This record gives sequence, C-alpha cells and structure tokens, in this order.
Amino acid sequence: MLSLAPAVSALVGERPNPSLEETISIIDIRSTSQSTTVAALEDGIRTDILAGLSHPYNEKMLPGLLLYNEEGLRLFEQITYQSDYYLTGLEIDILSKYAQQIANSIPEGALLLELGAGALRKTALVLDAIEAQKKRVTYFALDLDKSELIRTLGELRGRYTYVGLAGLWGTYDDGCVWLKQFNECPRIILWLGSSVGNMTRNEAGQFIRGFGEVLSPRDRFIIAIDTRSHKPEVIRTAYNDRAGVTRRFALNALGNVNDLFNAEVIDVSCFDYAPYYNEIQGRNEAYFRCLKQTQVCIPSEEPILVHEGEYVRFAYSHKYDRIERQLLWASANARAEREWTTEEEDYTLTMLSWTL
Ligand SMILES: C[S@@+](CC[C@H](N)C(=O)[O-])C[C@H]1O[C@@H](n2cnc3c(N)ncnc32)[C@H](O)[C@@H]1O
Repeated sequence: MLSLAPAVSALVGERPNPSLEETISIIDIRSTSQSTTVAALEDGIRTDILAGLSHPYNEKMLPGLLLYNEEGLRLFEQITYQSDYYLTGLEIDILSKYAQQIANSIPEGALLLELGAGALRKTALVLDAIEAQKKRVTYFALDLDKSELIRTLGELRGRYTYVGLAGLWGTYDDGCVWLKQFNECPRIILWLGSSVGNMTRNEAGQFIRGFGEVLSPRDRFIIAIDTRSHKPEVIRTAYNDRAGVTRRFALNALGNVNDLFNAEVIDVSCFDYAPYYNEIQGRNEAYFRCLKQTQVCIPSEEPILVHEGEYVRFAYSHKYDRIERQLLWASANARAEREWTTEEEDYTLTMLSWTL
C-alpha cells in the first residue's frame, strides 16, 4: 500500500512567505490513465471538435469538456450562486442537514476522492463534519485545471487539522487508475453537482461500474443526482439564468476552441446559446445556434460550413426519476446503501457499494 502522507505533505517551511502554489500539493496524474488523460485530452478534444463539426446539418456537436478551462470553471462557480440554478441550493440543503451522517460513513484513515470538484463550497460542509469528528482523512480534489485547483484548495488552507488536502490534476479516468494503488485504505468517492447528468444514461452506468471494479466492498461511492420532479419552466431557467451567466459560460467554450488551436478557428459572434429542455428524455440539451452562416476553419482541414439557424449540441444534463436511478445502479452493478434527499425528494445523494 502506498502511504497517503507524501501526497499531502505541506511544502511550507523552507521559505518565509511561500506562494499559494508552493503550499498546496497538486499531484499530476495525467499520465496514469490508458484512456482520456489531460495530456491526450487536448489532442482528443481537437479530434472531437473536427469529428463533431463534420456531422451533417443540425447534427453537429462540440465536446462538453470545452466548458471547463480556467475561465469556464470560474463562470460555473458564479452559476452556482444564481438562485435560478436551483441544483446547488438543493444540494447544500442535503449536505447541511446530513453532513454528520455522511461523515459517519467515512472511516478514520480514509481516502476521500472528489470527482470534478470545482469550487469547494459544498465539499467544505462534508469536510467540516469529518473534522468535527476528529477523523484523519485525506481529501483529494480532482479536476481538469491546475490553477483552479490551487485557488479552490487555497481557500480551505489552514481550516483543518485532521483533514489533509491535496489536488489531483487529471481526468475522471486518470483518477480511476490512480485510485487502484490505494487498495488497502478505505476509499470514498464523492461526485457532486449532478455531473453524472452530463453523460448519457448508458455512459453513466458504465462509468460508475468502472469505479466499482476498482473499489472493494468496504469502499463507497457517493453521488448527487437531480431529479425530473421540477417544473419544466424551472429547469429551463436553471440552464438559462436571468443574469446571463450560463450564456457567458457556454460562449466561453466556443472561445476555448480558438485557444486550443491557437488560431481564429470559429467566429464566436456568429453563435448564441440556445438550451432546450427535452421533457420526454428528461434532460436539458445545450446548443449553440448559428446566427449567420459562417465557416469553421480548423488548421490543415477543409473549412466547415455552418448554416444560419443550424444548432450545434455541446452538453446534456440528464435528470433521473426514482426508476431511472434504480436502473442506473443496476447497470453499474452497484447497491444503493443509503439515499439522502431534500424534503420534496427533488434532489438526491446516494451512497453506493459493491460486493465481490
Ligand atoms: C457541473 S461541474 C460541477 C462542479 C462541482 N462538483 C459542483 O458540484 O459545483 C463539473 C465539474 O467536473 C469537471 N469535469 C468535467 N469532466 C471531467 C473529466 N472528464 N475529468 C475531470 N473533471 C471533469 C469540471 O471541470 C467541473 O469542475
């Protein structure tokens, strides 16, 4: 078993005023995975951009990962402060009410890994409860952008005695591979924000199952999921908040295409954000609508024509009713040990386990 200590050893002490970057331990796990590493990710995203835009009229797509560069992560954090984006408020309600129960399920000496941690406002509720129970736990925030990891973990610096903090710079897949080496300590995975909704229902089942194959029976996977219970109008406003932050967040992803190719590939002014709540599928679908005909010019490729009025899809946010959640756990081969919900049962946090 590898010790957790070096991973979180504070780098402070050598110099009188170390910078935030020197005091926050960020582990680069980008090369541990066989599949979607961040290193391979940028290449992969470029390939996916070309492939997605090569689809026929109105079937074009862009990868959702374009949303999460440094600016995108900051804008997403702003979204979570919009009352229209009800998901964060509901999740905070659950975490505030049940943080002690959640902490009870996290044993002394555990490794707590949060997937796609983003800003750590909600996570802090759980970490505070663990600290109050005086349990030595090592928390790893995994995300795609190193400078954001340093910033968000930096906000928690000095807050805990018992809870060790570190960042993991990499993808979900990297995290799954990295986790294998710690098979002798209890491992708890936390996946908040209903991020599972960004995957198709099939992908989500396979993804969670992949973690289940790495985890042992004493380990747990805690996952937050939004439900279908909200009025369609409420969901529509959540993904198109009145302050326009979500629109900026979306359009930043288009600008990120130009950054990734280091060229003026796409004229962002030719597009607007156009979300659509698909009630039958139970998911928000995020599109860019082309406002005037334009060409996307990827270096060394034929220009791609996008017509006025054409839609380019870039993200899903699936909602799960009770049956859909049960189907999800079944497809992940997992057992739902515990479910915490809001009073209205319109947002859920489920603790999963796997038997051998
Ligand atoms: C919807 S946001 C949720 C952020 C935060 N957990 C919350 O609840 O507010 C999704 C987060 O997952 C991260 N993310 C998305 N896809 C990822 C991937 N493949 N690997 C690692 N992180 C990913 C994003 O960078 C972002 O921080």
